[in-house]
Amino acid sequence: MSDLFADAVETLAKAKKTVALTGAGISVESGIPPFRGKGGLWEKLDPMKYAHIDAFLEDPETVWNVLIKEMKMVLDKARPNTAHVGLADLERMGILQTVITQNVDGLHQRAGNSDVIEFHGSFAWQRCQTCDWTIETSRVDLSEIPPRCRCGGILRPDCIFFGEMIPHDALLRSQQISAACDVMLVVGTSATVQPAASMPFIARDNGAVVIEINPEPTSLTRRISNLPLLGAAGTILPRLVKAMRRHQNA
Ligand code: APR
Repeated sequence: MSDLFADAVETLAKAKKTVALTGAGISVESGIPPFRGKGGLWEKLDPMKYAHIDAFLEDPETVWNVLIKEMKMVLDKARPNTAHVGLADLERMGILQTVITQNVDGLHQRAGNSDVIEFHGSFAWQRCQTCDWTIETSRVDLSEIPPRCRCGGILRPDCIFFGEMIPHDALLRSQQISAACDVMLVVGTSATVQPAASMPFIARDNGAVVIEINPEPTSLTRRISNLPLLGAAGTILPRLVKAMRRHQNA
């Protein structure tokens, strides 16, 4: 067991309040590509052309055909992987309290986490751009693109497009929880998109220990991660759960 890993186990065992911040990397092993880096979605699609609210308002049909239908296809097939189950296990063991996720795939809840802040919204729902009515994505009739609301308005995923604000409650609660935690587990994020990327800094500035899980170093690794565990989340999190169980039973 590497020293960093052993320190992470000790730190989690002593912690009173642990929160996780997750990004696309935790869902890569569920078959959902990341946004950046090799095989990233934004390597093949320009996010400003397909994932910005102005682009959607200008040409919803293209955004639906090029991005949203592709997301639906990938997310419909996705299942929680061992990393998601690992975080749910840490909650069941009383070690982890809350997950702040940038992901819109709902896989944390399906793995069993009960307190999940969906910082960028959820793809499980579509919302009317005109009247705000919502409907489960699985019930949307896609024979017409863009699909329409009963009011005639255009439906769009209940997720945050670039150029849109983070829901106030999600932002406020995430900032409060980040400031109050004594350990933040940062899993599978490049920490490049604000304001989510500022949560580890809020945690660190309030005295928390930052444990980072990512196969690649990120901007956090060089700046604030106390315990960078380099590797895939689907490998490291189950190992962490096993070590925590041993620790709890010791
Ligand atoms: N386990 C852990 N981390 C992984 C794995 C894995 N198996 N595979 C890749 N990663 C890491 C990558 O090294 C990278 O640092 O996950 C990170 C994914 O980074 P991004 O693709 O930038 O995703 P994320 O940080 O979630 O993006 C933030 O940007 O495009 C917007 O709204 C979108 O929520 C998203 C936000």
